Amino acid sequence: MDKKKIPTLALAPMAGFTDAPFRLMCYKNGCDIAVTEMISAKAMTYRDKKTGELARLPKGDSPTAIQLFGHEPHVMAAAARMIEECSFEGCDFSEKPVAIDINMGCPVKKIALSGDGSALMKDPRLACDIVYSIKNAVSLPVTVKIRAGWDKRSKNAVDVALACTEGGASVVAVHARTREELYNPGIDMDIIARVRDALPPEVQVFGNGDVTDGKSALEMAEKTGCDGIMIGREALGNPWIFDEIKAYFKGEEYLEKTKEERISAAVSLVSSIVEMKGEERGIREARGRAAHFIRGLRGSAEKRAALNSAKSLSEFVSILNEWE
Ligand SMILES: Cc1cc2nc3c(=O)[nH]c(=O)nc-3n(C[C@H](O)[C@H](O)[C@H](O)COP(=O)(O)O)c2cc1C
Repeated sequence: MDKKKIPTLALAPMAGFTDAPFRLMCYKNGCDIAVTEMISAKAMTYRDKKTGELARLPKGDSPTAIQLFGHEPHVMAAAARMIEECSFEGCDFSEKPVAIDINMGCPVKKIALSGDGSALMKDPRLACDIVYSIKNAVSLPVTVKIRAGWDKRSKNAVDVALACTEGGASVVAVHARTREELYNPGIDMDIIARVRDALPPEVQVFGNGDVTDGKSALEMAEKTGCDGIMIGREALGNPWIFDEIKAYFKGEEYLEKTKEERISAAVSLVSSIVEMKGEERGIREARGRAAHFIRGLRGSAEKRAALNSAKSLSEFVSILNEWE
């Protein structure tokens, strides 16, 4: 296969998963840019400690954008200013964030019914105001992550993307499903292509949805003309996906990771999570995280059950390492 132009490869924001240890792992394996888990703008302005922790960027965690959710332009702007000034509770930036990203796609009821996340797809004017208010408050670039629309009767990604561009957004990432579709299989690549066609060339468009390997990434790039590809769920147990896609575009051979490499990566991730979050909380979170790395391996169901009862990091690591 000929060499193809490789789009920017981004790690999608995923609450509960794309924390700093995981982002660092993706950067080591070809990821070009990452986004934090979504962070409540309102909670940040209330100086909530746990919220502040989500926005920490340790050494090497760059170029990373911090994602905010909310719907009140002045609150979003105030939270963005706190980020730029590093004045929120517990701010710890060994790396400076490269952008403020706005969540316009979260479908979860609690979020959408409060007017946040995907609810913004129903109100392009408000989406524009939010971007504009943040742009006026900070010098950091503002990026947005949208969906195809709210439901099949209102696939208005082009309108929302144009409104965000008018507000000053420099990147528009399109998750090519409506809110109604949640994460159902199948995406509408045409909507990404239409957003790309509608926006000026200086605004980058990232395509997102169901990219799982080099072939699906190439299909996304060729069918949509997108500047970047954002990868979510596949990365959870496969942080090497970025290098895999790059190899595919270059026509190079890519060797699947061995069982030993996958286990070793799970151990390394779990250890970093425990180091960052403490043993009790770290182990609780690590169970679901390690499960992604061992999925499909023979004996993984038994291992998952054993990991669920592990109480310490050493016990957790022994269970993973003692694999026949
Ligand atoms: C567990 C989980 C958490 C997510 N959290 C966020 C989030 O915090 N912010 C956001 O914009 N999207 C979030 N998403 C959506 C993803 O960023 C992405 O748009 C979606 O998974 C589709 O991409 P994929 O098919 O590559 O997974 C989340 C998705 C999952 C599965």
